[in-house]
Amino acid sequence: MKIAVLKETASGEARVAATPDAVKFYVDNGHTVTLTKGAGTHAHFSDADYKAVGASLSASNPACVKAADIVLSITGGTAALVAKMKKGAGITGLMNPTDNPDFAKACAKAGVTAYALEYIPRISRAQAMDVLSSQSNLAGYRSVVEAASIYGRAFPMMMTAAGTVAPAKVFIMGAGVAGLQAIATARRLGAVTTATDVRPAAKEQVASLGAKFIAVENDEFKEAETAGGYAKQMSPEYQKLQAELMAKHIAKQDIVVTTALIPGRPAPRLIDKAMVKSMRAGSVLIDLAIERGGNVEGAKAGKIVETANGVKIVGHLNWPSRMAADSSSLFARNLRNFLPLVTAEDGSYAPDWDDEIIQGCALTRDGVVIHERLK
Ligand code: NAI
Repeated sequence: MKIAVLKETASGEARVAATPDAVKFYVDNGHTVTLTKGAGTHAHFSDADYKAVGASLSASNPACVKAADIVLSITGGTAALVAKMKKGAGITGLMNPTDNPDFAKACAKAGVTAYALEYIPRISRAQAMDVLSSQSNLAGYRSVVEAASIYGRAFPMMMTAAGTVAPAKVFIMGAGVAGLQAIATARRLGAVTTATDVRPAAKEQVASLGAKFIAVENDEFKEAETAGGYAKQMSPEYQKLQAELMAKHIAKQDIVVTTALIPGRPAPRLIDKAMVKSMRAGSVLIDLAIERGGNVEGAKAGKIVETANGVKIVGHLNWPSRMAADSSSLFARNLRNFLPLVTAEDGSYAPDWDDEIIQGCALTRDGVVIHERLK
């Protein structure tokens, strides 16, 4: 099978979909791998590293994908690029299909199969391919580390001869993959850590990390989890109760990291202007949900906003890209675990259309958009 690896072109994207380790694995298994020159540079993998493990290099993305059976990418490339691909080939990436349905149409037009990695079903067999988890985990870690660097005070309690420094109070809203790693990181840094979520299953997970769980635990809360393990949209009554409880708690926090998402919907608004105003000067809010509209009123995508009362609201985009070496390594490993599903026994490209993972993530097949969510 001919594998191509793109140099990512999306703005601010530093990751690469294959590391030299992954390329070595593919080459050792009889595949050929071509990368676009400089594909790994921002993730600290040089062209020489890739060449040393048997990859060849192309001058540009269009040249790189031309003969490929499968194109490995972080974000899926562009419509213009898939038009250059071989009919019948495949491309992987986080394609944001519902916000960007034109990309699937372009893939269909080119006769290319688009594998949207965010749609890989969250079944246990697919855990090793789950890029949402591998990337969110790093985003959760990084959010707390950045909060600590922006915050002008210490995280741990320090007892010194010159007096005692109080520990920071950190509150994590949304205890999914990113939130749980944020909790663990805040705890490791010595902060007094609390967390909330609308899924009852999160309560135990938060407690097991040594943080205190804070939520309106009424009957609606007890049923607020879909069969897929995701959050449901909560009723306006619940949201009001939640907002009242959160308002009291947030006023006492130094750092708040929000990660709350509901699949297929805009991010729920959890923090309003009044709550931001209630926080003391120097506090830091990190809105990890900014790409889906944000959890914090006043957060701006790609910016750090400082409010009149001295609170910083951080709206950085693409957190995994801030740790491009590690996030690329995990992403590449996820793809390495995915590729057997599109590989025949003789090593040629042949997607297994009977596999529920392929059925779950393929947006297009034989020139047609096939995914239910795009119909
Ligand atoms: P996500 O990124 O969709 O959402 C983040 C968190 O925000 C979730 O925990 C969600 O419950 C929470 N949330 C939504 N609305 C909220 C609100 N109004 N207030 C507070 N919190 C709110 O979630 P993620 O990280 O993708 O995980 C979702 C679930 O999937 C978790 O239960 C996780 O353990 C599970 N999972 C299962 C995997 C598997 O392979 N079986 C792999 C990864 C995650």
